[in-house]
Amino acid sequence: MDGGVDYLDRFRCQQGLISWNAAEFGRCRLNTGFARILHVAALLEEDTAITVRQGDSLGLDRVPDLAVFLPQWDVEEAEHGRALRALLAYQEYEPPQPSPPSVSRRRRLVARVPAQAVGRLPQAPFLFCVLGAAAEYVATILYAELAKRSDAPQVTQLLRSIARQEARHFAFFLAAARVRGHRMSAVNGRLSRSVLRAIWEPIGVPTLGTTTWHTMFGGWLEDEHFRHRIVMMDRIVDSIPHLEGARLMAAFLDSTCTVARG
Ligand SMILES: [Fe+2]
Ligand SMILES: [Fe+2]
Repeated sequence: MDGGVDYLDRFRCQQGLISWNAAEFGRCRLNTGFARILHVAALLEEDTAITVRQGDSLGLDRVPDLAVFLPQWDVEEAEHGRALRALLAYQEYEPPQPSPPSVSRRRRLVARVPAQAVGRLPQAPFLFCVLGAAAEYVATILYAELAKRSDAPQVTQLLRSIARQEARHFAFFLAAARVRGHRMSAVNGRLSRSVLRAIWEPIGVPTLGTTTWHTMFGGWLEDEHFRHRIVMMDRIVDSIPHLEGARLMAAFLDSTCTVARG
């Protein structure tokens, strides 16, 4: 793939499972709010398997760079999920409940609709990479923030190594999206942009619903520094051809914060 050798090689050089030791987690006691957030993180890690299957159903497993990346991405994210579950096994907490209750039905639809909506379009691999870049960017920021807030060294170390790996996934998806964006016609670019605005939601929202998502992360967003880093996702999306000014995260935060305050 022209222009693609560098980012694929970079990913290949750094691939591999994170290392962690379940026995070390037995001494860690997390506060319940922290454990609930890690519970959501574990769910999201486990959902990668669904995303990979969706990618396969779109034919992305036959695209050279994604054919290499997707299976490795799948096992690396699954390992994040396993490590988080091992840590959570020692904790006592109430798992967060999605709200409104219709979220689980909606989530099933969300999981199927993008595949049906974009599956036959030439923009599908582009959109898949853009959504991946946006999600991995936010995941990197969230794990780095969790590592900063953790006071157990074993947990901090785990969260930091997950954050580093999410950053590598982000780098792959962003480069893969840019290569495809550069080759795309203006008409296909405009169509991709409309589809993206219609289907994009921040990670965690399809799993929890906006209400529970805001209950869990609303306090963090009042921290100006954290909010700034999250909104930087829009600057990253701006750097992908055809997507400048899409303002996905800023528009979401404007609408949810208005709902939460109102
Ligand atoms: Fe992950
Ligand atoms: Fe990742």
